[in-house]
Amino acid sequence: MKFQLSALFLGIAATAVSAQENQTGPFYLHITGKEGSSLDGYASSCHAGAAIEGLCYGAGGVPSGNYYEYYFNYTGYNSVGDAPTGTVSWKMPYTDGDGNPASVEQSLGLQYLVNSNVAAPMFGWGTYNTVGFDKDGKLFGTNYFDDSTFTAGTNPVPSGEGIAIYQWYVCWQYFTGYYYQSVGWATTLPPHNPTCEAVDITQVFV
Ligand SMILES: *[C@@H]1O[C@H](CO)[C@@H](O)[C@H](O)[C@H]1NC(C)=O
Ligand SMILES: *[C@@H]1O[C@H](CO)[C@@H](O)[C@H](O)[C@H]1NC(C)=O
Repeated sequence: MKFQLSALFLGIAATAVSAQENQTGPFYLHITGKEGSSLDGYASSCHAGAAIEGLCYGAGGVPSGNYYEYYFNYTGYNSVGDAPTGTVSWKMPYTDGDGNPASVEQSLGLQYLVNSNVAAPMFGWGTYNTVGFDKDGKLFGTNYFDDSTFTAGTNPVPSGEGIAIYQWYVCWQYFTGYYYQSVGWATTLPPHNPTCEAVDITQVFV
């Protein structure tokens, strides 16, 4: 689908009211190493502060439990090829005022460090990033331009086909006081953090 500015703004508005969103899930996020990495495991939401979770890596077989379960919201306004783009979320459990189990959805957003090109996807900051799943179920990030191609004074947008970008890693990362082996996103290559291993992240429906 062609990128259209009006559609983008409608997409943002739809996110705010959420009525026009469709949700798929729950699904697991299977993490498999590539480029020589033998990692094989699943992503899980790991405590990283009050109502903040990281996206941790855990080795092993098919998991169970809501800490491993994710959802995908999309409006249909934006896509890369045939793949709709939207946001990934999980349902954080809590106990409500009457003592009953309840949950609240938190969306995945990238948190950056000032001195690294490796960002950590985390839940609960009130920010989110647009992602999608390709025809093989692989999670991608997306943008409409590549700033390494910019020329002075020439606005690159809208020429706009969105592109699928696969720069997922598993790295030892330090965020909000916690040091976890967790999912990272390299904004440029190679990743600055020497512990990073390249991975694919694949959607596996529960
Ligand atoms: C995702 O969409 C569903 C269905 O419209 C909605 O109930 C939910 O609040 C949305 N989640 C987020 C994180 O926006
Ligand atoms: C959202 O779900 C409804 C009901 O299943 C469906 O009719 C509609 O086409 C879906 N929209 C998108 C954008 O997939």
